[in-house]
Amino acid sequence: MSTSSSDDLSDRVNNRSHRPSSNAFRDFVASGWDRTPLTDVAPLPAAAWTPERRAAVSRRFPGERIVVPAGPLKVRSNDTDYRFRAHSAFIHLTGLETESEPDALLVFEPNDTAEAAASTAAVSPDAAGHTVTLWFRPRAGADTEEFFSDARYGEYWVGPRDDLETMSVRTGIRTADSSTALDSVTKDLGSVSVRVVRGADQALEQAIDAARAQASADQETAEVGDDELAEFLSELRLIKDEHEVGQLRRAIDITRAGFDRAVASLQEATRHPRGERVIETSFESAARLDGYGVGYDTIAAAGDHACTLHWIRNDGTVRPGDLVLLDAGAEADSLYTADITRTLPVDGTFTPVQARIYDAVLEAADAAFAKAASHVDGPVRFRDVHAAAMEVIARRLHDFGLLPVSVEESLSDAGQQHRRWMVHGTSHHLGLDVHDCAQARRDMYLDGLLEPGMVFTIEPGLYFKAADQLVPAEFRGIGVRIEDDVLVTPDGVENLSAGFPRTRAEVEAWVQQLAPGRTD
Ligand code: GLY
Ligand code: MN
Ligand code: MN
Repeated sequence: MSTSSSDDLSDRVNNRSHRPSSNAFRDFVASGWDRTPLTDVAPLPAAAWTPERRAAVSRRFPGERIVVPAGPLKVRSNDTDYRFRAHSAFIHLTGLETESEPDALLVFEPNDTAEAAASTAAVSPDAAGHTVTLWFRPRAGADTEEFFSDARYGEYWVGPRDDLETMSVRTGIRTADSSTALDSVTKDLGSVSVRVVRGADQALEQAIDAARAQASADQETAEVGDDELAEFLSELRLIKDEHEVGQLRRAIDITRAGFDRAVASLQEATRHPRGERVIETSFESAARLDGYGVGYDTIAAAGDHACTLHWIRNDGTVRPGDLVLLDAGAEADSLYTADITRTLPVDGTFTPVQARIYDAVLEAADAAFAKAASHVDGPVRFRDVHAAAMEVIARRLHDFGLLPVSVEESLSDAGQQHRRWMVHGTSHHLGLDVHDCAQARRDMYLDGLLEPGMVFTIEPGLYFKAADQLVPAEFRGIGVRIEDDVLVTPDGVENLSAGFPRTRAEVEAWVQQLAPGRTD
């Protein structure tokens, strides 16, 4: 029988800690480690490209302190964290990859403040008006408690970490120990204004907001300033540089390998009670083997599930005769992601009604491609690409006898009945985020003109839910989406995912080759 006391409680809370605490253990564990400095430290692949990005930030916000947090580790439950991924603005401006770097801050300090004047470091040549510093938690010595006892940061637990020097070599950015970062970014707010990327690091935001209040800064105005920073950083990513396009190609290549694995698993999927998971995990093995993982949760949707736009449960069965909609993207180590959808006939052949629907969607996608490519003949707005796809969708729905009004009326702002069967948009920008540049202003995004270097999806679909009483029975339970990733070029567009089977015949051949039906 136990009695309750505060000692019992702390014992319970700590009941996973079996670490000895004797002095003998501490002395012993802190000795005898080979701590040769990290070797093979080379600049990150993005390091040649990030100075221009930081220079753009410096030019846009002269005289202001700019704070871009990586964000903290996110707790999954109790003492278990999610695998770390830094905020995309931080990744874009530092070039850091994969797990790097929880709790780090990228800070642009205007050169005329005391902090910058006191700095002995050379001013970064990439940001003339600012001194840019990457504040992070450098590796601790093997003789420190952190080394062996800190399960989040100790190298005994998490593996090798950078010191100030190696991080600076890798990123090309001046580095500093983050233990004093908060003081540095919150000081002197009476004389310098600060903008912070919000939504990544709540504790940092609270500290900055408190310091603003102390300096009598108007919080509402300050938050508008923060929003402008978010907009600017989003818009900075609308045009991809050569390195980014290369990373998107890499993500698409990995995704291509993952789709092959998924297609090859179709027959096995029909024999498993949760066949959709067979397809999901087949894809994701490639994403994890060759990239950092997936850029968003995979949608592996068989039959009617394809009509649930965000079907990520993927716990359904896969039956012969079904279509499987697979919407999946691998994220490369650089954290750029692909976003591809193919709709696959499990048996290797589309039925006549599946084929009609597939061809309508493909025609809509082709119309969107043609509209995007026509930017060489005159300005094309992002929204025009969607409109081109919608015109085909409305016409084909009319041909199917489903539209309750004329094509023209449906396409008018006052109509839009065709959207019942495709409520999502046709395109979104793609990059570090699957829905990239989401904070960009409407003028730059939806109403923006297509320009070389933009990368976005073209992904029309048609979804006839099993419960849809306004379509003939043979349409019900069929969902089709075809999604490709597109680069705007000076000559038109390049389909970055052109290596994927896309026409009905190509898709059938793909399935027949990789997942032949049983012949017994
Ligand atoms: N998979 C998310 C999207 O296609 O937008
Ligand atoms: Mn998409
Ligand atoms: Mn998608």
